[in-house]
Amino acid sequence: MDLFEYQAKELFVKHGVPTSAGRVTDNVADARAIAEEVGKPVMVKAQVKVGGRGKAGGVKYAATPDDAERYANDILGLDIKGHVVKKLLVAEASDIAEEYYISFLLDRANRTYLAMCSVEGGVEIEVTAEENPDALAKVAVDATKGVDLALAREIAEKGKLPAEVLDAAAVTIQKLWEVFVAEDATLVEVNPLVRTPDDQILALDGKVSLDENADFRHPDHEAFADAGSTDPLELKAKENDLNYVKLDGQVGVIGNGAGLVMSTLDVVAYAGENHGGVKPANFLDIGGGASAEVMAAGLDVILGDAQVKSVFVNVFGGITACDAVANGIVGALNTLGDTASKPLVVRLDGNKVEEGRKILADANHPLVTLAETMDEGADKAAELANK
Ligand SMILES: Nc1ncnc2c1ncn2[C@@H]1O[C@H](COP(=O)(O)OP(=O)(O)OP(=O)(O)O)[C@@H](O)[C@H]1O
Ligand SMILES: [Mg+2]
Repeated sequence: MDLFEYQAKELFVKHGVPTSAGRVTDNVADARAIAEEVGKPVMVKAQVKVGGRGKAGGVKYAATPDDAERYANDILGLDIKGHVVKKLLVAEASDIAEEYYISFLLDRANRTYLAMCSVEGGVEIEVTAEENPDALAKVAVDATKGVDLALAREIAEKGKLPAEVLDAAAVTIQKLWEVFVAEDATLVEVNPLVRTPDDQILALDGKVSLDENADFRHPDHEAFADAGSTDPLELKAKENDLNYVKLDGQVGVIGNGAGLVMSTLDVVAYAGENHGGVKPANFLDIGGGASAEVMAAGLDVILGDAQVKSVFVNVFGGITACDAVANGIVGALNTLGDTASKPLVVRLDGNKVEEGRKILADANHPLVTLAETMDEGADKAAELANK
């Protein structure tokens, strides 16, 4: 789960990372009130989960409460790369001498954690990383040793931070590592980490991604969930413990096992090229126990997607045999009744395939077409979606 900047900063405060004082709001009057509370110039900052807010006009310096009110009015409702601004962070504007970059992340390719640090922080860090990669120091972090003050200082040194701030930066960098570990994050990024004219170090922006697999250890993380912007179908799938990701196409896909579903998406996209360019509408893995209830819940989610024109059910019977899956499909169609109104192509293979096919053939449901192979099923489903 990606956090908003203001949520990332809540975690920073919890772990003692210095940042600027401020508060989040969803309205203009309150933005003014916060600026009055702060009693100094503030920054009015769009809270959206996308980079480049400043360049898009979503980060403004407001010298007075009047300015804060005016900018809040401008920024609320602004569309930044498809993300509409619903919340603002109004925070004290700090004096900045220099802007640095620091992050901790999971380096999957090298099976380790990685720290990245640069003296050339700020809004152009992506350009720096591309055009002058040497300016971005990369330091592997051994998971069993972590980051102590000495390593934190070394990271800052390799990022070419000036000598006068190395000690202060090391303290903050070490605390950011604490955030990374204690909160089970996969990314903690601060850009800019600033040096003030009196050599203080402050985190003025924050990007944190939390590892949802560790949610059970963090009941407090539930409060970060952004119910308003989560896709309603994804929410419904989550309530039913289904692994569902909404995509943009027209062919609903259900399968058992993440690998099978992934390859089904490929096959459907490929088949779609011959049928008006239709594409998979979702990823849905119903897992091992494809009971009637699970199948009904899965179909219910997929059929609730107005974009879906056909559904491809692709199941390889293993421990849950094909006859159980077939009964699940028939049961699901009965449960859903008239809600099930889109054609279903079903391909079964593996354990008890003959029994499974017989159950579906006997049920003879008008919406169901049986396919022998995965390619054939994908082609049929794409064809039906294109009608
Ligand atoms: N509290 C603050 N005080 C002073 N200046 C700030 C403050 N917050 C941000 N700024 C200035 O605004 C610039 C952009 O802010 P920020 O880094 O939060 O947004 P961004 O980088 O444009 O967005 P994103 O990180 O989403 O790409 C910073 O590099 C910094 O110069
Ligand atoms: Mg930034």
